[in-house]
Amino acid sequence: MAGAVKTPRPLRLTVNGHTAMLDVPGETALLHVLRNDLALNGPKYGCGLGECGACAVLIDGRAVRSCVVPVEAVEDRTIVTIEGLAAEGLHPVQQAFVESQAAQCGYCLNGMIVAVTALLNRNRQPGEAEIRSALAHQLCRCGTHMEILAATRRAVELSASDVAVAEENCP
Ligand code: FES
Ligand code: FES
Repeated sequence: MAGAVKTPRPLRLTVNGHTAMLDVPGETALLHVLRNDLALNGPKYGCGLGECGACAVLIDGRAVRSCVVPVEAVEDRTIVTIEGLAAEGLHPVQQAFVESQAAQCGYCLNGMIVAVTALLNRNRQPGEAEIRSALAHQLCRCGTHMEILAATRRAVELSASDVAVAEENCP
């Protein structure tokens, strides 16, 4: 980055359970560090202005637009990208999007899946209004919104059955 000032010390970033020490300017957008320094290309560059949601990641379980977050602001936070969701096989939200074939070009899906995961983190059984509210500012230029809503309803079902299985297996 031309004219950028390097931090006086490496920044410590914990992403998908791995900690990395990074010699990057602290004001660099988290999105660029994820993609350029950590080879995590799931989060996408859409608008670069915090408007479209394509770059979303989970920070401490909440959906955050990584194109407008300086990397120095998220040291010592727990960052999970869409790659981290699939660490032990497909996450129920990813499974729901596959089952529902909720994609055209797929460019928006990182943000959609991260937003739905964050929604389920705060409410395992969201109603229709809460689902629509969670996705209201996630843009899809292909007009796949109906399929994405269907996938989200399926994610709610899969997530509920995961909880039920976990409870059955409790000693
Ligand atoms: S690229 Fe981050 S919100 Fe659009
Ligand atoms: S599927 Fe193309 S932008 Fe959403």
